[in-house]
Amino acid sequence: MEADSDIKTTPRGFHCGLCNVNLPNQSSVDQHVKGRKHRTLHAVRSTRKTQERHSVFVSGITPLVSQSDVAQYFTQFGPVSDVVMDKDKGVYAIVQFAETDSLQATLSRVEHQLGGLKLRVKPREQKDFKLIPKKNASQNLQQALERLKPQLCQLVSVNAQMQYVVERFQLGDNEKKARGLLVQLLQEVFVEFFPDSQIQPFGSSVNTLGVHSCDLDLFLDLDNTKVFQARAKSTAEQAGEGTSDDGRSEDSILSDIDLSTASPAEVLDLVAAILRRCVPSAHKVTVVSGARLPVVKFHHQQLNLQGDITINNRLAVRNTRFLQLCSGMEERLRPLAYTIRYWAKQKQLAGNPSGAGPLLNNYALTLLIVFFLQSCEPPVLPTVDRLKDLACEEEECVIDGWDCTFPSQPIAVPPSANTQDLSSLLFGFFTFYATFDFAGSVVSLRQGRALPITDFLGQGEKPTKPHGPKLGPVNVLDPFDLSHNVAGNLSERSQRSFQKECQEAHKYCRSLQYQRKSAKGKSWGLVRLFTPRGEAPPPSRPEQLTISIPFKPASLPEALRGRLHEAGGGGFRLPWFREVCAAVEAVLGGVLGCRLARPAGAAFGAESLADAEAGTASPDASLNDSCDSVGSLNEGGAVAGAKRPLDDDDGGAAESPRGKRPRLARRAKPEPAHWVCVQRHAVWAGRRRVRRELVKDTDSRPEGSCTELETEVTARIAEKEPELRGPLEVKVQPQVIGGTESTKAVLRLEPVSDAAGVFHDFFHFLEAFLPKMVETLLENKASASAV
Ligand code: UTP
Repeated sequence: MEADSDIKTTPRGFHCGLCNVNLPNQSSVDQHVKGRKHRTLHAVRSTRKTQERHSVFVSGITPLVSQSDVAQYFTQFGPVSDVVMDKDKGVYAIVQFAETDSLQATLSRVEHQLGGLKLRVKPREQKDFKLIPKKNASQNLQQALERLKPQLCQLVSVNAQMQYVVERFQLGDNEKKARGLLVQLLQEVFVEFFPDSQIQPFGSSVNTLGVHSCDLDLFLDLDNTKVFQARAKSTAEQAGEGTSDDGRSEDSILSDIDLSTASPAEVLDLVAAILRRCVPSAHKVTVVSGARLPVVKFHHQQLNLQGDITINNRLAVRNTRFLQLCSGMEERLRPLAYTIRYWAKQKQLAGNPSGAGPLLNNYALTLLIVFFLQSCEPPVLPTVDRLKDLACEEEECVIDGWDCTFPSQPIAVPPSANTQDLSSLLFGFFTFYATFDFAGSVVSLRQGRALPITDFLGQGEKPTKPHGPKLGPVNVLDPFDLSHNVAGNLSERSQRSFQKECQEAHKYCRSLQYQRKSAKGKSWGLVRLFTPRGEAPPPSRPEQLTISIPFKPASLPEALRGRLHEAGGGGFRLPWFREVCAAVEAVLGGVLGCRLARPAGAAFGAESLADAEAGTASPDASLNDSCDSVGSLNEGGAVAGAKRPLDDDDGGAAESPRGKRPRLARRAKPEPAHWVCVQRHAVWAGRRRVRRELVKDTDSRPEGSCTELETEVTARIAEKEPELRGPLEVKVQPQVIGGTESTKAVLRLEPVSDAAGVFHDFFHFLEAFLPKMVETLLENKASASAV
């Protein structure tokens, strides 16, 4: 097999020349060659090789020779499947044939002439296929910062630095003018094909937050064209012929398409055809129909800018007006937004270059900034509901059923009473999101507050139902389309990175290096804040061996969602945490065959409740208090040690935390609730292989998706493999975090006895296995109770 020839033995194991990776042993080689990267590169190489074997290199052409001239000439030797030309210089072409025989026929001809030009035709050079390593993003970002650094460092304050960021990055007048002219040109072209249509720019080109070379987002409004078509149709019917009386549709390619019945994909194909044929300098025109909003993408070569045309996006034009209004009423928004956007870019938190991706898009990031400004005390920006109240009757606006009313002029909005300067607002932004409970909240700019996620977990309502927002690790409702979570694309990893970077930035903003210009010419203020995120994550300290089980509302079973909904915004964490604890116990004790024990005398979780017990609060309410108070930032800025474990009841050793707890003397200092888990076998070693053997490759269920299978895998390992040199004893302490940061269950693992030195192996295995299994168990339990 060809893949084998890519693998070479080395003194340290193996090396895959195709993917340029070292592999320690045969089993990692086996895994690697079956992996996606290796298979994709293998396929790409085969395609390239086939292309090379089917094509010839042609030189001696001039810019006057077109692609079709070349194709036409070479078809005499056989069917031509592609012609690639260097358009700018017009000196060479690569002609690809559909069959190898055509190549021989071409090369055996001694002389080739096309339109009086003598062509030179050669076989393609057979190049070795090499993986070109991706540019190191972090290095590029560092270089960009190096260019910015001298100017930033010499300014006198962070406020001045923030203003400078705006000046440096904002769209210049000439750029705006060029974009305006392109919009005008497109308008003139499109109106020829779509009578009475209108092309309207939206997004960063016009929302006052655009940076050099940002995309040009356009909405092609075809509503009037539809009216025009309907009128033309009825006139034609009356006259009994196929044209309208003004004759405008006669030669139009519109005559082939009825907008009242055409699908968006058909209309976009037409838009793409018009761009290709009629708009000078429009290149790389592609229709992306799989996106939430299908779009035609193009590149304008002369202006070197990327354009996107949508046909169903009236709301975007309106939300662009909203952002314009926000910058008009509050001049601090722009410096704040430019600075935070640049910070997010440097930290690789925002901007999905290909459109789709797990990071924040700039619109979502801007809404997070606006929301923070609404949440300041006193508010810097009003809520969207308040803006609606300030609008007059003529400004009322409803789009697709959503209320989009707000004043058209900033003057209609009373100025903010907040006098914080830019530098302290920037600091405030990081502090706000460093401790924000993303998983437990839905950000509402309409109301200017975080709504409890439980409001969106109604019984029987799927979070993905057509009219509800798609819930995820970060939930930010569009201010107008309240069924749209603008951050619905974020992964848990990107949410964690965003929050972690906010925590880092918060810490930094407390330091003198942020606040004061360095007298010694060192980096200070924004410069350090903009340092790109390092490639490698900092090594985790041994005492921080924790496993997180995030609260994932979208994947919870329906029955549990209903119960959490009833528990409400403050109270949902406890019932959820109890379910998780029960599942953790079932995984450790049941699936992995650990012996679970509770040390004698341990007072389960009582310390987290002792204070509240003295008062009148109900046990659950007090538990909730303890959840809500965790995670406040301490002096050093790190998340403070107020995270207390939720309690267990007084039940057996393997009981999960429950709401009932003993009344304790105030001074008692009980040990936090935990399990002691004893494992005698390396149940993680060779687990995949055993699973594969058990299912004999007929079952493609991924690891952790089937309880019975995983239990059997454990039993098989325990039966076949010798016991560990000494039992591994691990303390597992569960906590629920939330209220002021993302809701999650955290398990802190600490070795008690580890004669075989396998604690880290066990921990790394559990890190991936446990969250997945817990999810499976929660689902199983829900389906069992539904039966
Ligand atoms: P972008 O996220 O591209 O924002 O969305 P941007 O401000 O234009 O930033 P660049 O282009 O990355 O520099 C473009 C526009 O699309 C609409 C908004 O009007 C936004 O301004 N949009 C985007 C939505 O309406 N909803 C979304 O979820 C995303």
